[in-house]
Order: sequence, then C-alpha cells, then structure tokens
Amino acid sequence: MEEVLIKCDRLDYFGRGIGYVDGKIIFVANLLPLEEALVKVIIKKKKYMIGEVIKFIKKSSDRVIPRCSYVNCGCALQSLDYFKTLEFKKNKVTDILKRYSGLDNVVSDIFYGDKFYGYRNKISLKVKSGELGYFKNGSNELIPISGCALASDKTNEIISILNKADLSSVSSIVIKDFGDILIDIKGNMDISSLKDFAYSIYMDDKLVYGEENLLASLGDFKFYVSKDSFFQVNSDVTLMLYNKIIEFLGDNKNKTILDLYCGVGTISLFLSKHFKSVIGAEINREAIKCANLNKKLNNIDNVSFICGDASLELKKLKADFLVVDPPRSGLTLDGINEILRFSPEKIVYVSCDPMTLARDLNYFKDKYDIKEVNLFDMFPWTYHVESLVYCVRK
Ligand SMILES: C[S@@+](CC[C@H](N)C(=O)[O-])C[C@H]1O[C@@H](n2cnc3c(N)ncnc32)[C@H](O)[C@@H]1O
Repeated sequence: MEEVLIKCDRLDYFGRGIGYVDGKIIFVANLLPLEEALVKVIIKKKKYMIGEVIKFIKKSSDRVIPRCSYVNCGCALQSLDYFKTLEFKKNKVTDILKRYSGLDNVVSDIFYGDKFYGYRNKISLKVKSGELGYFKNGSNELIPISGCALASDKTNEIISILNKADLSSVSSIVIKDFGDILIDIKGNMDISSLKDFAYSIYMDDKLVYGEENLLASLGDFKFYVSKDSFFQVNSDVTLMLYNKIIEFLGDNKNKTILDLYCGVGTISLFLSKHFKSVIGAEINREAIKCANLNKKLNNIDNVSFICGDASLELKKLKADFLVVDPPRSGLTLDGINEILRFSPEKIVYVSCDPMTLARDLNYFKDKYDIKEVNLFDMFPWTYHVESLVYCVRK
C-alpha cells in the first residue's frame, strides 16, 4: 500500500489525526496535532483515506507514553497529555452543540475523577479462536491482550487466569467489578480456576456459580446490579455527576420528578431525598427488578418504578421536573413531543453521545433556556464524554 508524509492539522471527533494528501482528507489514529509522520494508507475511498503511522518524523510536546501498548482498541487519546484530552472533549462538545443545535459556548466545566486508569467497573472482552482481547476499532479483528489499563486490578488478575484457560468454545466474556466480581461468559469453559475470584459466574445466560446480583455502593446508597442491567462504568465520576444533578435541581419537597431511562434506579434514589415523589421508567425488566430491590434495600418509600418503553410510558405520565438519561441513540421524536406536551418546569438531560444530544436539544431550545452544560470525564483516554444539560422552561 501507498506511503505518504502527513502533517496532522487537528483531531476529528473520534480522536484521530486529520491530514491532507493532495487536498484529500486522511484520518490517522495516534497522530497528534502538528505531528509529522510517514503513514501507510490502509483504506482509500473516493472522498477520504485512512492511514496508520509507520514512523514519526516530528512528535508533539503534548505526547505522553501510554500505560499500555495496544493501539486502536478504544483509547484513541492514550498518547495525549490527560489535561489536553479534557480540552479536546470540551472543544468537541462545544463545537457539536454550536454546529448542530446553534448553542453558543454553553459548555462551562469538565469534571474528572482521581483515577485516570483502573476506573472501569465493567469490561467487555471478545474471544476469537481461543484468544482473548478487544476488537480493533470498527472491525472484528482481535487484538489479544494480557491486561487492560482501564480495568481494575482484580479484573486484570482474572484476565491472566483466562489467558491460561481453554477458551476455544467461548465467544465473549464480560467482567463486572464492584468489589465482588461477576463473570458473564458466552460459550462454554471449565470455570474451576475462576471460582476463587468470582461472586457470580454465568455461562450462556445461566447462573452456574454464586449469587444472582452484585452489590455496588455509590455515595450513601447501595445498589443491586444484575448481569444485564446498566450501571455507569466509572463509579467515582458517576457520583460527581449525580451530585451535580441534585445541585442543579435543588430541594423540592413539594414537587414530583420523573427519571426516564432509570436503569437500576440510581438517579431516582439519589433524587428521592429532595422530592415529594419520584417515578423511574426503564425498559429492561431485570434492571427494574433491581430498582425495586434497591428501593427496599435503601429504605426509600417515595419512589416507584415502571417497566416499559420511555416514549410509550410518557403518554401516561407527567411530573413537575424531568431527568432523562437515554442510551446513545438519544430520545425519540414521540418521546420529545410527549415531554413538550406535559412541559416540565425543569429538565436535566444526561447524555453519552453529544451528536444525538445536539439533535434533541433543537426541539427544546425554543421552549427551554439551556442554562448550563457540564461535562464529566467518565471514560478517560477514550474520545467519549458524558454531558449533563440543565434546562429551565421559559
Ligand atoms: C445510559 S443508561 C442510564 C441508566 C441510569 N440512568 C443510570 O444512570 O445508571 C440508559 C438506560 O435506558 C434503558 N433503555 C434503553 N432503551 C429504552 C427505552 N426505549 N425505554 C426505556 N428505557 C430504555 C437501558 O436499558 C439503560 O438502562
């Protein structure tokens, strides 16, 4: 394949270096602004190219030595100084909100935790031909790994054990670590070497060892988390995010609030101490089962949970205030119309994808003041960032 000399102009939204070859754009992973490198063109399309660095000619003073040697398995910003990665994320969301929803300079702060590594309470590994690893970005080519710098120490111990095991009949493994460990194996393997480390082991969705749910702590609360229910991956930064939601909304003992896409009820329980009543809605049955257990576990009686599709449930519900925390796809148009119909006084929108957030804010910005956008670096070294938007009815 062709080799070209590239000077990196800037990073794209996915943290890849952007350069030009005869006016045509080329995206190069692990190439920082102003760096120069000899690059191998690995994909050549009509409008763009994708390249890989063969050799650096000039390196950036913002370049750092990453904690791990794997490239292209998720940590797109692993070679950039951590505080520059925060700048990148703030600029990225500012740019997206300006470009796609016409909101000017609404991003105020980016908050981050103490743990830049080892912060993930969950990792999802792939297995191919018996080898354990991550898929290379955008492909199903396996990058075999002996550990992951984002995972906890205990998770890395389990990865070492798995690397010695026969994984020839396994396709993927999820490890959750909330102090106790849950291992969710798709396929079949001898689990005897894992039993000393695990609290729960599932194989092909069947509990084969230990207890059904893990117990996670966040602030003053405890939460049961099941195999398939969502829990934010960075517990320390999640606590900062939830406390900020409470700070935005304040104490409202005579008001009701709806927590849409509530998962195992985390935000609902945090809000319960500040509102007359809370309703949480969530589509995942297992998560709602945990949410109801969590309500009892924390002795809370002003919260109720509904299992259903948020857009449909919205037709039957209303409240004074609203929190939404949808998946990456964002809100549905039906859902947005229902929200505008019952028109809550305040809306807090938690988003893990600034593109769908920008799309959705377009529908709210005429009727709501977008008071503040804060970012939370829930996913250090990746191009992802969590946004928190505080809106007040005009
Ligand atoms: C980003 S998570 C947020 C969970 C929770 N708020 C938290 O902080 O842990 C999004 C949640 O939305 C749920 N979900 C996905 N599609 C949904 C839908 N159509 N209706 C209701 N919930 C949905 C997922 O199961 C997941 O629990």
